[in-house]
Amino acid sequence: MEFWGLTFFLVLGFSLNATCMTINRAIPRAIEARSGWTFLGCYADNVSGRALPNGEGVPGGTNAMTNELCQSACLLAGYVIAGTEYAGECFSSTSSSFTSSSTSTKLSSSSTISSSTSSSTSPVTTSSGGVGTGKRGLAYTDGNPDGNAAYANFFVGYPKISWGYDWGYPSQGLDSYFEFVPMLWGLPSGSDPSWTAAVQTAGTKNILGFNEPDLTYSGSSNIIPAKAAAGYLTYMEPFAGGSIKIGMPNVLWNNGGSSSGGNYDSAVWTQYFLGNCTGCHFDFAAIHWYQDCDPGDGQSGAAWFQGNVTNAYETLNLPVWITEFQCYGSDAQQIAFLQQVLPWLDAQSYVGRYAYFGTFPGHTINANGTGLSDIGIAYATT
Ligand SMILES: *[C@@H]1O[C@H](CO)[C@@H](O)[C@H](O)[C@H]1NC(C)=O
Ligand SMILES: *[C@@H]1O[C@H](CO)[C@@H](O)[C@H](O)[C@H]1NC(C)=O
Ligand SMILES: *[C@@H]1O[C@H](CO)[C@@H](O)[C@H](O)[C@H]1NC(C)=O
Ligand SMILES: *[C@@H]1O[C@H](CO)[C@@H](O)[C@H](O)[C@H]1NC(C)=O
Repeated sequence: MEFWGLTFFLVLGFSLNATCMTINRAIPRAIEARSGWTFLGCYADNVSGRALPNGEGVPGGTNAMTNELCQSACLLAGYVIAGTEYAGECFSSTSSSFTSSSTSTKLSSSSTISSSTSSSTSPVTTSSGGVGTGKRGLAYTDGNPDGNAAYANFFVGYPKISWGYDWGYPSQGLDSYFEFVPMLWGLPSGSDPSWTAAVQTAGTKNILGFNEPDLTYSGSSNIIPAKAAAGYLTYMEPFAGGSIKIGMPNVLWNNGGSSSGGNYDSAVWTQYFLGNCTGCHFDFAAIHWYQDCDPGDGQSGAAWFQGNVTNAYETLNLPVWITEFQCYGSDAQQIAFLQQVLPWLDAQSYVGRYAYFGTFPGHTINANGTGLSDIGIAYATT
């Protein structure tokens, strides 16, 4: 028990709020010293609101709990925030809003510590390659005068933004503040050692598959379901079962028109893809969504969006990443949309990550390309 008491003491040593006592200034450095993790402080747990079922991932359970085991279990489960409490309990989160009702989770329910500290939980740490801790990401390209990730890097320092992708690889200089997520945009014509190397690049935790294979316009990868499934078995499935999380193809979920391969919509394309992808493993679904901010059908764009994202989750039963989304409208309409949907996205446990379209001048970057636009500021700070 002394060991657990000590663990708890260390954990609570660096309180930043009233529920957590400041005891010893030497300890945070020890916590920070764990490679790739940063000490964020102490946070109040919402005991009645614990929700995320992120797995009983700690070997040995409650009685073996250490900060390190908790961090490793959280990372393996795909979470970038870890915290311990009551000496034997561990929670994981992907969201910076971990004090809210839905983001705190116990891996174990047994409490071994006295009640005097029962309202505290800490430390909160975040993995490297993603100093930001939110679900929010950047869909960017190297389309700027320097031909690099400069536009995305304007978002460094906004902690709700944690990751980025550029519809391919490599990252073109994405700041290490963000986790870079490589994408296999389309179907390679043969063996693709550069893709393998991109996935094996240190720090890679998640990979994205084909970009809009369900669509037939020139900017889509336009792949019929059977061929997309064969491609997944060749290029994605070899990475299954390890620490890398694999996304399904990025499809335009609310496309009700025809798709690659026939006169069926994107949801049917996805069902055919899954039907053909025998032996495939997926860790998350990936969808796109575009619609008018005011669809003129009596609903708002936000209502459409929330309904369509919920539908994707209920259909596919996987955490959902929305790798592109935008409502079409004025800046004011888009900002109002973001103010409605961003808190909602952060509060849905089944929403893994999302990226508003896109990190370009006239979108989340100002027209001159010198910094964030008003939409970008709303996206970064709401
Ligand atoms: C705590 O969780 C409960 C149950 O989910 C919820 O009703 C409440 O609003 C949460 N409180 C806070 C402060 O998040
Ligand atoms: C496989 O995909 C093709 C279209 O590419 C589709 O016609 C067929 O029904 C799919 N098979 C399954 C089992 O879903
Ligand atoms: C998306 O939402 C709209 C508006 O509620 C609805 O008409 C449409 O069927 C939804 N599509 C999907 C794929 O959920
Ligand atoms: C673009 O640059 C011009 C000239 O410097 C300036 O007047 C304008 O405010 C800038 N616009 C944006 C969106 O930064």
